[in-house]
Amino acid sequence: MLKTALRSVASTSRQSNLALRSFTSSPITAFAQPSNETPTPPPGKVPQMKEFKIYRWNPDQPAEKPKLQSYSIDLSQCGPMMLDALIKIKNEVDPTLTFRRSCREGICGSCAMNIDGVNTLACLSRIPKDTKPSKIYPLPHMYIVKDLVPDLTNFYKQYKSIEPYLKNDNPPAKGEFLQSQEDRKKLDGMYECILCACCSTSCPSYWWNQDQYLGPAVLMQAYRWMADSRDAYGAQRKEKMQNSMSLYRCHTIFNCSKTCPKGLNPAMAIAKMKLEMAQDK
Ligand code: SF4
Ligand code: SF4
Ligand code: FES
Repeated sequence: MLKTALRSVASTSRQSNLALRSFTSSPITAFAQPSNETPTPPPGKVPQMKEFKIYRWNPDQPAEKPKLQSYSIDLSQCGPMMLDALIKIKNEVDPTLTFRRSCREGICGSCAMNIDGVNTLACLSRIPKDTKPSKIYPLPHMYIVKDLVPDLTNFYKQYKSIEPYLKNDNPPAKGEFLQSQEDRKKLDGMYECILCACCSTSCPSYWWNQDQYLGPAVLMQAYRWMADSRDAYGAQRKEKMQNSMSLYRCHTIFNCSKTCPKGLNPAMAIAKMKLEMAQDK
C-alpha cells in the first residue's frame, strides 16, 4: 500500500521522470554482455572473480521496473575500493552504468551510496575479499535520477534554508572576526561534514518526513552556525527550529552517527541544539 502510494507520488509530482528507490521491490538479476576483450591477469597474479549486483533504473525507459544487474570482475586487476570496481565496470564492461564521483578520496561526498546494506562513500569502502556478491543501491528513500544517482534537490534546498554562512551586522572596524581557540574548538566535528547525505538517508524520521524534517546533516550544520561565537543570529536560527517538524522529529536513534563515513556525530549535535533550546526557554 505504502509502496503504491510512494510510486504514485513519483509519477504525479514534478519529478515524474524519477523513480523512488524502494527496498522492497523484488530484484531481477540480469547479466551484462561481456566486453569482447577479456583482459589477462598480470603474470603471477591469480584471477579472483567477484560478483557485484548493482541497482539499475533508466529514466528513458520509465515502463521498465528497477532491477539488479550482475557484473563479475577480476579483483586481481582492480583497485581495492568499491569505487574502483564501479569505474572498472563502467570503463570495461558497461558504459551505461551511471554514478557520481569526483575526488576519489572521501572529500567531495559525491559517491555516497548504499553498499552491502550500509550508507557510505564508495571511494572509502573496501571491496570484501570473500566470494559473497556485493549489492550496491543508491541512497535509500530518495528519488532516483538514474541508476546510483539520487536526486538531492530537496537536500540542498534544506541546506540553503538554514543560511549556512556567517551572519553578523557589526563587522570589526579593522581586520577579521576574531575567535578564541576555545570557541574555535566548539566547531570541531561539525565543520568537517562533506554533505554526502549518508546520515540523512539512514534516518527513519527523514525517510518519512523529508518534506518538513531537516534531517541530521542539515541540522548539524544549523547547529554549527549556532555554535559559532562570531555569528550574531543564534537566537533567530533557534527560533526557526521552534516547530514540531524541522528539528523535533529527531528521536535520538543514532542511525545517522553510526553510518557517517567521516566519523562525525550529527545525533550529538542535534542533542546539544535541543538542550540549548530548552535552556533558553
Ligand atoms: S554528517 Fe557525515 S554522513 Fe552526514 S552528511 Fe556530513 S559527512 Fe555525510
Ligand atoms: S538520531 Fe535523530 S537524526 Fe539521527 S537517525 Fe536518529 S532520528 Fe535521525
Ligand atoms: S569520490 Fe569524492 S567522496 Fe568519494
